[in-house]
Amino acid sequence: MHAPAHFTPVPLDKAYRLLNHGPTVLVSAAHGGQPNVMAAAWACALDFSPPKVTVVLDKATRTRELVEASGHFALQLPTVPQAALTEALGTESAHTHPDKLQRHHVELFDAPGLNDVPAEHRPPLVPGCAAWLVCRVIPEPHNQQTYDLFIGEVIGAWADGRIFKDGHWDYENAGPEWRSLHYIAGGHFYAIGDAIRARPAGHFHAHGSLAPGSVGGLAKIARVCPPPRPVPCFNLEDLAQGVLCSSSSDQGSSRLPTAARTLATLSGETGGALWPQDWRM
Ligand SMILES: Cc1cc2nc3c(=O)[nH]c(=O)nc-3n(C[C@H](O)[C@H](O)[C@H](O)COP(=O)(O)O)c2cc1C
Repeated sequence: MHAPAHFTPVPLDKAYRLLNHGPTVLVSAAHGGQPNVMAAAWACALDFSPPKVTVVLDKATRTRELVEASGHFALQLPTVPQAALTEALGTESAHTHPDKLQRHHVELFDAPGLNDVPAEHRPPLVPGCAAWLVCRVIPEPHNQQTYDLFIGEVIGAWADGRIFKDGHWDYENAGPEWRSLHYIAGGHFYAIGDAIRARPAGHFHAHGSLAPGSVGGLAKIARVCPPPRPVPCFNLEDLAQGVLCSSSSDQGSSRLPTAARTLATLSGETGGALWPQDWRM
């Protein structure tokens, strides 16, 4: 099977974001021409660079055997329509149901461009997911044996371009069917919920010659930003230091790009450089 239409590469330095919200994953692996997939709630980002993840794989699982034999696994993020599939792949074992994938109509596809990985060791991927991370096992026999804990270096990352854009999840603007699954127990999942901002929105760094006390500039920002105005209450002392911080009580993220552009324009006028500091982290 071919990769799905919106299968989009994700830069490896952004791969951790695919797991940062704690989704339940599907773990796949293959060896000797035998693929398999199981569910895992205990998967986590571990490191930025090179990107690493952890996943707990119980000794009783067939998938673990394939991971150990091939030295590779893939983590992929099922979406709301795949909740029943996730439950089924996490309830049936290929040990007792060797036709488990066929029974649940799982048609796997190959990750492109992993030429360094022998074809028989490449974990096949599940279509319909929101993201996929292919990992090479970093052998840690003690952790694996004692805690069932596997560490993998992410060697390829992809996401569906309709839900993960420019290095960020876009749950705010996507349909509910795109939401990730979060497992409790006993077949009970939650779908990811509302976005909550926990630090001031609109944190801008200014470098250059934006004049201290540039109140005229602030007036321009207020004029350009659409109503309701973002009320950019920038601290004039910060301005003097070349750093702009919004007070941000009402700055919805949708208006921040406008403010950023306006600041950049102002900066151009004064010969400096301004840019928003990763305002959607
Ligand atoms: C939602 C969900 C999450 C699970 N999380 C884990 C996990 O983190 N680690 C684990 O070893 N098993 C986990 N399981 C259980 C395995 O998915 C299950 O044992 C599965 O049947 C193994 O399949 P296999 O033997 O074909 O590999 C989970 C099951 C479900 C339904």
